[in-house]
Amino acid sequence: MTEHPLIAMRGVVKRYPGVVALRDVSLSVEAGEVMALVGENGAGKSTLLKILAGAARADEGVIEISGEIAQIHSPRESQANGIAVIYQELNLANDLSVAENIYVGREPKTRFGTVDFRAMRTGSAGLLASLGISISPDAIVGDLNIALRQMVEIAKALLVRARVVVMDEPTSSLTEEEVETLLSLVRQAQRERGQRDLRVPPHARDLRDRRPNHRDA
Ligand SMILES: Nc1ncnc2c1ncn2[C@@H]1O[C@H](COP(=O)(O)OP(=O)(O)OP(=O)(O)O)[C@@H](O)[C@H]1O
Ligand SMILES: [Mg+2]
Repeated sequence: MTEHPLIAMRGVVKRYPGVVALRDVSLSVEAGEVMALVGENGAGKSTLLKILAGAARADEGVIEISGEIAQIHSPRESQANGIAVIYQELNLANDLSVAENIYVGREPKTRFGTVDFRAMRTGSAGLLASLGISISPDAIVGDLNIALRQMVEIAKALLVRARVVVMDEPTSSLTEEEVETLLSLVRQAQRERGQRDLRVPPHARDLRDRRPNHRDA
């Protein structure tokens, strides 16, 4: 039995008025693999990620998840397929706490049917600790710097047991030190999930296991 890649995109074409953003793009990602898409401005990286996220629709091509054709026509369908997307403009509620953000939409309930804040706090603390992140679950997200906010998003993705975490330009607004922290978090997440031990190089520019066949990128 052959093992299927976790995600395979084949022959993806995306046209916008007057521009072909993606021209017959294919790529596959294995479980536990860290892949970086590298390309100049306008090469189509964000467009490809939006298609995976269900935020844009491909004109042609197929997406297979573990060998099965997946219909990803909305963010909900993307999530249902185990895909978590972290955009550059992060998707957190700045007025809420770290714990509230991590559990948003899936708050644990007490036996009286009210939100179980205590369970949220303990759950978040455990999740953050397992990733080696020292942020209080009670911290207000708006008070955290961009790097820490990004880590909250990653913790959130791990809570829903996302099989794939997609980040668009995760390092562009980080300092070099924060980039190192993010990279060690990626390695940590890889270990957490008990997946294949993959080499994650120490520097962002080397953060790719291989280069996908992405002609324009
Ligand atoms: N919503 C849209 N409407 C029209 N054209 C778009 C839209 N989104 C992207 N494009 C065009 O599609 C092409 C690919 O853009 P995309 O944002 O995917 O590139 P990118 O590789 O992410 O670039 P960058 O490095 O600047 O983020 C560009 O020519 C862009 O102008
Ligand atoms: Mg982009």
